[in-house]
Amino acid sequence: MILLDGKQVAADIRRQLREQVDALLRAGQRAPHLAVIIVGDNPASLTYVRNKVRACDEVGFRTTRIDLPADISQDALLAEVRRLNDDPGIDGFIVQLPLPPHINEAAVTQAIDWRKDVDGLHPHNIGLTALGMPSLVSATPRGIRELLAHYNIQTAGRHVVVIGRSNIVGKPMAMLLMQRPYLSLPNMSASALGDATVTVCHSKTHDLRTICLSADIIIVAAGQPALLTADMVRPGAVVVDVGINHIEDPASPRGYRLVGDVDFPDVAPRCAYITPVPGGVGPMTIAGLLQNTMQAYTDSLSR
Ligand code: GUN
Repeated sequence: MILLDGKQVAADIRRQLREQVDALLRAGQRAPHLAVIIVGDNPASLTYVRNKVRACDEVGFRTTRIDLPADISQDALLAEVRRLNDDPGIDGFIVQLPLPPHINEAAVTQAIDWRKDVDGLHPHNIGLTALGMPSLVSATPRGIRELLAHYNIQTAGRHVVVIGRSNIVGKPMAMLLMQRPYLSLPNMSASALGDATVTVCHSKTHDLRTICLSADIIIVAAGQPALLTADMVRPGAVVVDVGINHIEDPASPRGYRLVGDVDFPDVAPRCAYITPVPGGVGPMTIAGLLQNTMQAYTDSLSR
């Protein structure tokens, strides 16, 4: 069993981005600039945003963090989005999710200028991705694609089961996997991802176990600890765990620990490759966001 070391691969990507930023600065250009809107004080969101800003600092991107109160009106939030759309100094921005229940997430996502939509959630980017055209792809699927490519894990002709149908992971992941590789994004080797036979499963799927047992690769993004157990995994499979769940743990200094959606101790020995949690997909998601920000920046130069 080989661990898919997202921490290491993400560090390599950050190093490459840092070199690109240094080259831009040497050439008299400005650095890419990411803005992050966070509404309220959801502790998990605050942690994610801190990590995103820290990663930007590390590669030399500029960041602007906009903290808004949890009771902000939808109109006021939309005005903030439009302000960032119109600011030529901002290359990309995200609105950290989830938003408070009185705000319509779809309305906010659709208000973002798709050229600055570094979360890849705007319908225009989702549509381009579905068509196999260059687009800003949601950061987690983008990061998983990089991770599989780094370990030379082929998807062509293989059965990939994606568990979870979210707009941010499951759906775009399935689209990337089924693509004809020659239509995939620039800068990726043709063999990186695509040409897979994809099954998307979710909470209403019957007999998930039988479906998973026929998978060569399982990507779990369901937000449910220990959803994937050893009896669901064929020996030699590849398992990618997108879950980040906080489990109470009085023995831990923080009172909780992080686990994925995979019953790691039992599943790992059966796998050819598996991602750990933490240190697998999480750092790759942030790397994907950084790559999207660089992409939005370079695309804006050619307009
Ligand atoms: N909440 C959890 N993950 C994400 C993400 O990748 N982007 C945004 N905007 N919100 C999130």
